[in-house]
Amino acid sequence: MDVQTVRSAAVAFGGPAAAVVGGVSLLFLKSVLSHQGGGGSNPNHLPFVPVVPGLPLLGNLLELKEKKPYKTFTKWAETYGPIYSIKTGATSMVVINSNDIAKEAFVTKFNSISTRKLSKALTILTDDKAIIAMSDYDDYHKTIKRHILTNMLGPAALKHRIHRDTMVENLSNRLHDLAPNSPHEAVNLRKIFQSELFTLALKQTFGRDIESIYVGDLGITMTRDEAFQVLVLDPMMGAIEVDWRDFFPYLSWIPNVNFETKIEQMYIRREAVMKALIQQHKRRIDSGENLNSYIDYLLSEAQGLTEKELIMSLWEPIIETPDTTMVTTEWAMYELAKHPKKQARLYEEIQSVCRSEKITEEKLCMMPYLAAVFHETLRMHSPVLIIPLRYVHENTELGGYHVPAGTQLAINIYGCNMDPEIWKDPQDWNPERFLSETEPIDLQRTMAFGGGKRVCAGAMLAMLIVCVSIGRMVHEFEWSLKNNTGDDINTLGLTTQKLNPMLAVIKPRN
Ligand code: HEM
Repeated sequence: MDVQTVRSAAVAFGGPAAAVVGGVSLLFLKSVLSHQGGGGSNPNHLPFVPVVPGLPLLGNLLELKEKKPYKTFTKWAETYGPIYSIKTGATSMVVINSNDIAKEAFVTKFNSISTRKLSKALTILTDDKAIIAMSDYDDYHKTIKRHILTNMLGPAALKHRIHRDTMVENLSNRLHDLAPNSPHEAVNLRKIFQSELFTLALKQTFGRDIESIYVGDLGITMTRDEAFQVLVLDPMMGAIEVDWRDFFPYLSWIPNVNFETKIEQMYIRREAVMKALIQQHKRRIDSGENLNSYIDYLLSEAQGLTEKELIMSLWEPIIETPDTTMVTTEWAMYELAKHPKKQARLYEEIQSVCRSEKITEEKLCMMPYLAAVFHETLRMHSPVLIIPLRYVHENTELGGYHVPAGTQLAINIYGCNMDPEIWKDPQDWNPERFLSETEPIDLQRTMAFGGGKRVCAGAMLAMLIVCVSIGRMVHEFEWSLKNNTGDDINTLGLTTQKLNPMLAVIKPRN
């Protein structure tokens, strides 16, 4: 099997999840035995999950090679039902494509499915599960999640409001600078917005943006763009690098030097830049400056953290903030540019609430159509299409089936959100579907933020960033696509970034 096959099959699992296909040889054997009727481990004699037939040794890896995995998973659901089992090399995986069964996994059966089995790449990049999103549900997870929710996310996000206001102001200014040249020069929103979001992430975490930074461990000065590459872009790509041994754990004694060197280099550079940022901040504290950022909070309230834990806790919001929010915003603006009537409806709503004033976070609750645009974009273009793989660590039951310990669990958000039984004309981007609700929109409807105890800690921050940014851009400019020739919905990378950046023509509104 060639490297491309393994890589494609890995990307198959939706970015972060892709790389989480790790080794479970012993547990795998146990699971095979229980599939073969090991009654002791299935005391309730529940049926076994339907199996998608595959090839000896490779299982279903080849079928996941060409197509988008979340699409292949959705297609298989038509034949095998909303829950089925596949093989990725030597690993057994159960795939869920139904809201009800997904909720069962997120909530009622959580205690049996609360851990993760990481790929080699993710194990290295996360310093062996030292970030909230990739850790097991243990005391470390609970402590760090409490810290980030106390200072930066959840309702605490309101504390860093000033940085978000500045970000949206800068975004608007940069678009106004570019507008006179549009339509001759198309606007690449991603380029501008990603940079502003990185600034926001640095300010929330360290209180300040940087222009450059001296990285003592590497003996070099890095520009801001180089630091972005090392802290965000490289690890995002590294996370979907797959070591073929992840699929065949019994071969893990064979060295894979190129892979290890590449990922370890990413780790070393990331650690060096994080150390430099922390040292720079400590010098500021020594000189009496108080910036009231997340690092200030952790240095005073979480003194028990080791140096590595501190580095990882500070790195997590830096990698998680810019990408997911940029992906969602770019897709929303793409859809609005493609649907001028819906864009006009949104503009009228914003105009009726804000008039000549700028949109603010307080006004969001008066704009149901803007909320509907946000949720419909998450339904169709969820940045995380497959929830980072969970690991079944004790026998459990899902959807009425027996699921043995040692199974990986993939929750296919795309499959759930494209289910025609639940969503009418699911292929259409139609924010109106969220307006018929009599109750406020429930985040659980699209499950784009996961669910249960491991629900995304940054959902509130993401909503504030994305909705105010979309609102401001639509209030001030009319958007159309540079090349509006059919769908351009291919994706790339760890999250579901558009393959081709949206190129837009923007016209300032009076
Ligand atoms: C539209 C934007 C976002 C989407 C769609 C999103 C989606 C997700 C998903 C699907 C998970 C996994 C949940 C699970 O395993 O069940 C997650 C976890 C997480 N996200 Fe987000 N996310 C977004 C933005 C953010 C932002 C801005 C942050 C800020 C730092 C953030 C921080 C986290 C954290 C800390 C976790 C781990 C929660 C846990 O395991 O307890 N996310 N997110």
